[in-house]
Amino acid sequence: MLNIAKIRADFPILKRKINGKPLVYFDNAATGQKPQVVIDALDKYYKNTNANIHRGVHTLSQEATNAYEYSRETIKNHFNAKHSHEIIFTRGTTESINLVANGFSQLLQKGDEVIISQLEHHSNIIPWQLACEKSGAVLKIVPINKKGELLVESYEYLLSDKTKIVAINHISNTLGTINPIKKIIDKAHEYGAAVLIDGAQATPHLKVDVQALDCDFYCASAHKMYGPTGIGMLYGKEDWLNKLPPYQGGGEMIKEVTFEKTTYADLPFKFEAGTPNIAAGIAFSVAIDYLNNIGLENIASYENGLLKYATEQLVSIPHLTIIGTAKHKAAVVSFTVDGIHPFDIGSIIDKLGIAIRTGHHCTQPIMQFYNLSGTSRASFSFYNTKDEIDVFVDALKKALMMLL
Ligand code: ALA
Repeated sequence: MLNIAKIRADFPILKRKINGKPLVYFDNAATGQKPQVVIDALDKYYKNTNANIHRGVHTLSQEATNAYEYSRETIKNHFNAKHSHEIIFTRGTTESINLVANGFSQLLQKGDEVIISQLEHHSNIIPWQLACEKSGAVLKIVPINKKGELLVESYEYLLSDKTKIVAINHISNTLGTINPIKKIIDKAHEYGAAVLIDGAQATPHLKVDVQALDCDFYCASAHKMYGPTGIGMLYGKEDWLNKLPPYQGGGEMIKEVTFEKTTYADLPFKFEAGTPNIAAGIAFSVAIDYLNNIGLENIASYENGLLKYATEQLVSIPHLTIIGTAKHKAAVVSFTVDGIHPFDIGSIIDKLGIAIRTGHHCTQPIMQFYNLSGTSRASFSFYNTKDEIDVFVDALKKALMMLL
């Protein structure tokens, strides 16, 4: 059992009032709020340790380097990677995917195929479109059913010896669908294709073991895991990371530079050009420790309860349709109300202190599939409560009375 009152006390922002009402924060799929320990880690770094890493012989630089590399080790352990050099710090999931897609754009040949799905966020579509444009490879799309579930049989049909990489999200940010990624990975490997998993939405809710999954790449953003913005990670199998060319050139990613030829640093530094977001990198591991202290299994089970409760309340509202009814779902509810623009719902309930996201959620192909311009989306976290869902449902009913 989670002690929700104690957990809520860890998040200073949850004490805020918005428009005179207690904040009800249901936009967790966009970003998670930050516990005091994460805020303290950022503060402590800048007050006590700030220095550039991997560069100095002086004490501060070594302390900063140790803290940053300790964080990499924590991330490696959390995701159960084999080696810490398989963890690359990036700005977030978007940059992780771009790093891999950019590398593949140089490995792919004309006529090769890349598979993504109808469920992807734009950040797992556009980098692959760019890679295909550059290389002459062909982009294939796994379709979904009306519930928002991937059609696994169609996926198997799309796979062939031409498939070089499959890039699929673990959980859909818009519909909450939890995809059968183990099956997807195993099937792709039968054809020798690599698999990248966009884990941005999964990592705040589920424990991920990259070795058990046997994925080739796994991407995550710290800010969705209650860590800072501007930092994330790419896990890549050592062999793949050695095969991929560097993504950006600059300081720290080299062995030797001459005007004739540059040789690159070993992993992970080959992919870490320039001064990174050091404070955020250090605080990332603090967020992971915080999550693990609560326990991701406890979090998943509590959030499932919130999802079930919210779904039951919402389906009883006339003219409201839930978009995304997959059998396996994370705590995300997207919905539409006949004749009402999601923006109007979002704006009215904001006046009552409630934060939800409205629009296409950076997934226009999902909107095209359902023939919608957008949805309203409530996404829950372990610090949310059933009482907050009641406040939200009451506010929604009031908004609909005004709008209908
Ligand atoms: N991808 C994030 C969301 O779904 C920003 O809101």
